[in-house]
Amino acid sequence: MRVVKSPKALQRLATQARQAGRRIGLVPTMGYLHAGHLSLVHEARRRVGADGLVVVSIYVNPTQFAPTEDLARYPRDFRRDSALCREAGVDVIFAPTDLYGGRATGRYSTYVVEEQLTAGMEGASRPTHFRGVTTVVAKLFNCALPDIAVFGAKDWQQAAVVQRMVENLDFPLKLIIAPTHRESDGLALSSRNKFLDPQQRAQATVLWRAQKLAQARVRQAGRGGVPVAELKAFIAALVAAESAARLDYAEFFDPKSLVPVETVVKGVHFALAVFFGSTRLIDNGRM
Ligand code: PAJ
Repeated sequence: MRVVKSPKALQRLATQARQAGRRIGLVPTMGYLHAGHLSLVHEARRRVGADGLVVVSIYVNPTQFAPTEDLARYPRDFRRDSALCREAGVDVIFAPTDLYGGRATGRYSTYVVEEQLTAGMEGASRPTHFRGVTTVVAKLFNCALPDIAVFGAKDWQQAAVVQRMVENLDFPLKLIIAPTHRESDGLALSSRNKFLDPQQRAQATVLWRAQKLAQARVRQAGRGGVPVAELKAFIAALVAAESAARLDYAEFFDPKSLVPVETVVKGVHFALAVFFGSTRLIDNGRM
């Protein structure tokens, strides 16, 4: 396994691999890896084959954090991450120290912006977030030159936005969306879970319970579906019943266009964000 620090070095390595006929699979991450990230790595390996090149990027991307957000306290542990990557059979870790070399000197001024799918949910709660995500992901694609890139369904809106960017900007790669990896009680694995105290951790299962109960209600309603206001009120009450939880949003929408629906039927997508103190957790799933 190699650790590469500069975009140029990774481009060289990727170009050589491509010339040798090896397929390249990229898994972008911000590190502090958990089993959810590793499931993406295994998916990448499955897709590119034993002689493919699996690249994991580890970079806490400053442009996707607002000044008020948790960039400084975002968890980091490179030694542990690289041990996990080695164990998982990763070929290359891309761990740049800074991808915006000119920013401090005023020479960084180019951003990629998706203007439709970013309006609601994460984009509404975190207005500059997706600009940072699309920019860094475009840069990572240009560095790793992947044939495939694997993203998690855990961040559904992010995957939809990146998919749109790939289509709109003609990136020659295939995006793979891998399923959300969960704890046995349903909590989606997240690097931010480590900030939860025991009470918050216990109550955090509300994200999963909300989803399961909404699903059951929609299934029970059958073809006619359920008015979205009814489901939203139900979820708000469920979250309010947890003393440490504060609902940020709960939305029901078309899984591809992300357009909100009035009536929730089977196949509609659901996403929610809940604060526990200053820690914000998100989850989503299909009804
Ligand atoms: P990060 O939060 O580290 O997540 C990296 C990838 O892992 C994302 O595609 C995310 O959806 C996926 N992931 C996280 N938790 C998961 C889980 N429980 N099950 C399955 N997949 C999971 O998302 C980012 O980093 C950044 O925004 C990034 C795309 C790297 C750009 O900076």
